[in-house]
Amino acid sequence: MRLDKAEQRLAKAAERLAGLAGGIIDVAVIVGSGLSEAFAERTSLRSLPYERLPASPHATLQGHPGRALGGSWAGKRVALFSGRVHLYQGFSPNEVSYFVQLAAAAGAQTLIATNAAGGLNPALAVGDLMLIEDQINLTGMAPMVSLSAEPFVDMVEAYDARLRARVHELEPSVRDGIFAGVRGPYYETPAEARALRTLGADAVGMSTVLETLAARALGLQVVGFSLIANAIGPDAHVRHADVLGTGRAGAQRLADVVERLIATL
Ligand code: HPA
Repeated sequence: MRLDKAEQRLAKAAERLAGLAGGIIDVAVIVGSGLSEAFAERTSLRSLPYERLPASPHATLQGHPGRALGGSWAGKRVALFSGRVHLYQGFSPNEVSYFVQLAAAAGAQTLIATNAAGGLNPALAVGDLMLIEDQINLTGMAPMVSLSAEPFVDMVEAYDARLRARVHELEPSVRDGIFAGVRGPYYETPAEARALRTLGADAVGMSTVLETLAARALGLQVVGFSLIANAIGPDAHVRHADVLGTGRAGAQRLADVVERLIATL
């Protein structure tokens, strides 16, 4: 598919999203696996199934209901993407970053990306909230977001330093960490977990890194949160159902921090 065609369809979807939200949006929030309910409960946003957004790739995996929510939240006009698509489902880097591109086209200046991740750093416990300080993209891929955006993106302080400081002020229990993004879909071998740790990663997941690349290419400021859903390492057997089920309490804490952060934007 040629990008200029895709851009036209994106513009249509952005119009529809802005219509849902009641105007140009300020902030986009991408809600990760198993976290949707906690966010939906807190807001009274209007909902639109992904099928109604032109060119939208939509989520098929259990735990990833696919809909966009839009409206006012914490005094800002917000689009909340509940459910994302992943490389491991066979989607391209461009499709994976669709919601970021859509948010940018609808006017968003800030992206808040959330995910459930595996904790590599033994200091991170299941249920902890990690604020992403920086990322290691191990997917071997990057999105090409538009013909007009510079593809060679500067990724220093990709996760906005000013907003990270603000999150720490709002919620002292949040821990900083480096997020490694892998393609998956499987949980790491002990050797891989060790290798990731050696590379400097504190948590690992199968999303977010391409979204952040896209957001920076499009000039959005980015904040990223990982809810530690499981430990990963030599003694840590992981069951997918447990990862999806983890953390109702964690998800609520995360939604609460996000709400307070949005209020300051
Ligand atoms: N590894 C990779 N991705 C994940 C994990 C994990 O342990 N937990 C949640 N997403």
